[in-house]
Amino acid sequence: MTGVPVVVLVGPMGVGKSTVGRLLADRLGVAYRDTDDDIVTAEGRTVAEIFVDDGEPAFRALERQAVHAALAGHDGVLALGGGAVLDDGTRARLAAHRVVYLSMDVEEAVRRTGLNAARPLLAVNPRRQWRELMEARRPLYEEVATAVVATDGRTPDEVARAVLDAL
Ligand code: S3P
Repeated sequence: MTGVPVVVLVGPMGVGKSTVGRLLADRLGVAYRDTDDDIVTAEGRTVAEIFVDDGEPAFRALERQAVHAALAGHDGVLALGGGAVLDDGTRARLAAHRVVYLSMDVEEAVRRTGLNAARPLLAVNPRRQWRELMEARRPLYEEVATAVVATDGRTPDEVARAVLDAL
């Protein structure tokens, strides 16, 4: 499939990018794609296994390739992993796309993700790590976003509707 995504979803892990992304794809009658899934399929390993076996820089290199391929080859809804915006080249590429930042505050993030061992970045002290992650990444999400949709206290359905309104 070629073409550019109808919309690219960015935002922190656990914010609901895949749930909302699938709902959006359904409503728009297009396909849903997630770059984490692309990496897992290509590597035959989970994201956590790649982090543990090869380290975060190796995961980021795989992620950069997966994001760039999906931006050029998917014309549906595309969700990026929460850390994809750390890459300068990815942020530059996103300037040409319609990008919705799904946001949530730190307490909502702690509530939603808890102590999720499948998420290697939250393994030690979730609240502190969330605070640091949000402070570091919020400006990067805002830099690439053409629209921001707050998810706090909203159901995935309500968020999907707000995203559709923002398109
Ligand atoms: C990460 C987010 C995860 C996954 C990896 C790193 C991050 O994706 O790519 O665990 O750095 O925020 P989701 O946002 O889809 O959970």
